[in-house]
Amino acid sequence: MKQQLEAIRKAALEAIADAAKAEDLEALRVRYLGKKGELTAVLKQMGKLSAEERPVIGQLANEVRAALEAGIEEKASELADKSMECKLKEEAVDVTIPGKQEKIGVKHPMYQVLDEIKDIFVGMGFEILEDREVELAEYNFTKLNVEEGHPAREWSDTFYFSDDSSILLRTQTSPMQIHAMETRELPIRILAPGRVYRKDEVDATHSPMFHQIEGLVIDKGITMADLKGTLETLIKAMYGQDSVVRFRPHHFPFTEPSVEVDVSCFACGGCGCRLCKGTGWIEVLGAGIVNKKVLENCGIDSEEYSGLAFGIGIERLAMLKYGINNIKLLYQSDMRVLDQINDD
Ligand code: PHE
Repeated sequence: MKQQLEAIRKAALEAIADAAKAEDLEALRVRYLGKKGELTAVLKQMGKLSAEERPVIGQLANEVRAALEAGIEEKASELADKSMECKLKEEAVDVTIPGKQEKIGVKHPMYQVLDEIKDIFVGMGFEILEDREVELAEYNFTKLNVEEGHPAREWSDTFYFSDDSSILLRTQTSPMQIHAMETRELPIRILAPGRVYRKDEVDATHSPMFHQIEGLVIDKGITMADLKGTLETLIKAMYGQDSVVRFRPHHFPFTEPSVEVDVSCFACGGCGCRLCKGTGWIEVLGAGIVNKKVLENCGIDSEEYSGLAFGIGIERLAMLKYGINNIKLLYQSDMRVLDQINDD
């Protein structure tokens, strides 16, 4: 029996030393010390021993049990340390590895220009309005004093929805003037950006869809001086305080008088270069004093009130500002291009 106990001690301690996982250790505990374990089985035979042998074997059995328990405990804490070590190793963060560069989106150049313009006008007390792109011809043309038969109303220039030419995709943001005058209390001071549509030939500077910003002020005593001051404020804020603004006579049915507005070339300062085609000036927008007929069409007393209006092409300004020579580059949204013209 003594030999049996020694054999168990040897085998068990070896097995414990070899245990690689906590589960293996638990299996060994059951195998040797459990109720049906090997050591217990030997102890059950103690009854067969003589009175002299019993205490000797009993003591040895206790020693073996204690040795196994101690061995298991020691191994258990060793395994726990090891698993903690592994876990720490697995979860270790190498702070010296270079981080992954996340790609951050950029604001589209046209929206950079639009936001800049909005800020300038909000600073002058304008309210921003946005509205429908499908319009009645009455608002896009008639009430703006563009009469039946005017070339701008041609099917070849305008996207119509109905055979009677009454519903269309707006060709300009100017119908916003009519909506504002019909629905708002006077005085009015609004800025209305949005998409407009024309059957233009597609080339480097034209697209069938583009963006405009309409501006409208209606109040008592508005004159050409207000128009010039307002647009000068815009242009100096955008192109620098040294910029010079020039009004050239023009014609729009809804303004009288009408002007085209030029800014001294911001690339060459007015000496003449490729951007300004040698003229020293760059055309940036159309504007004028609201035609009395338009005020009357909206039920506004043209003796008491007068107004100024202007329309800005956003693509044109963005192209000029960022030196983009093809309008397609603005619509393709190729990040390689947009990244290069990001101001932020
Ligand atoms: N609607 C005109 C255009 O599309 C621009 C404009 C707006 C001119 C307001 C004068 C006043 O060309």
